[in-house]
Amino acid sequence: MTTLREYLDSTGCEEKLKDLIELVSNQAAPIRKAFISNQEYVDSENIYGERQIALDKWSNEHLIKTFRESRLVKEAASEEEPEVVEFPDAETSYAVTIDPLDGSSLVQVNLAVGTIVGVYEDSVMQEGRNLKAAFYMLYGPLTVLGLTVREGVHLFALNEEDEYVMTRRDVRIPEGKLYASGALKRDWFPEHQRFIEYLEKEGYKLRYSGSFVADVHQYIKYGGVFSYPAYRGRETGKLRLLFEANPMGFIVDEAGGRISNGKRNLLETKPEKLDHRVPLYVGSRDVIEKMEKEFNIEV
Ligand code: AHG
Ligand code: MN
Ligand code: MN
Repeated sequence: MTTLREYLDSTGCEEKLKDLIELVSNQAAPIRKAFISNQEYVDSENIYGERQIALDKWSNEHLIKTFRESRLVKEAASEEEPEVVEFPDAETSYAVTIDPLDGSSLVQVNLAVGTIVGVYEDSVMQEGRNLKAAFYMLYGPLTVLGLTVREGVHLFALNEEDEYVMTRRDVRIPEGKLYASGALKRDWFPEHQRFIEYLEKEGYKLRYSGSFVADVHQYIKYGGVFSYPAYRGRETGKLRLLFEANPMGFIVDEAGGRISNGKRNLLETKPEKLDHRVPLYVGSRDVIEKMEKEFNIEV
């Protein structure tokens, strides 16, 4: 079976980028070990006003420390940090985004959560289409790594020796029939509501877990449309451009799918600030292009 390192060595990736991907992916094991003693909510909020659990903080601090010690990262932006963290001793110009723990409200009920990572050159304040690499580690029954270095999307899983082995090469997202929408139904705008009704009429089946990384992983396999729309009370939507939408959307796009803000490709959005939020629709290409043309969703 192809190991992660063997796969990386077969690509056109720079050596330091390979080292960075391997290093960060290997933090899945320590992060998983920290689950048992970091379950509870702590007395702090992140910049989005969301309550943090101990594991959000632990994973964030662990990854920032890993970046600092490696000298492989010039700057990092994290969902759990108010500012970009600079590493003056860095030997590369990689700028990394992290959602250290995505789906944290599911930790206490033991459902799948993950870590989302994006790697740019020089600065994190760029359009998602400029990503050099994007990947996620999904902590489910297996620890799965979904990775693109702009050479297709490939899935790996940790084996008994804690080594990543490839489980699927060149994933292509099918035109499947799953759908999901975040936010309260009573707060949806009519255009979004009409699109969801269209999907239901077409026989799409509801699948929504509360963990974006786990949901998108599922949509990559089965196809369909995952959405977290703009809604009354939060016209920007909830999910974050830098930490969630861009890296996961880039992976979906590389697998032949699409990420949209309702009107156009989200990967072309220039971030205005670190905590830039966006409405999003991600999944199978044809149905999302149809939505962009026919459903007139406001952004
Ligand atoms: P995080 O755990 O990183 O704060 O992200 C939570 C996100 C995302 O994972 C999920 O799709 C969504 O928020 C869930 O929101 P609701 O609880 O509003 O459904
Ligand atoms: Mn998140
Ligand atoms: Mn998070």
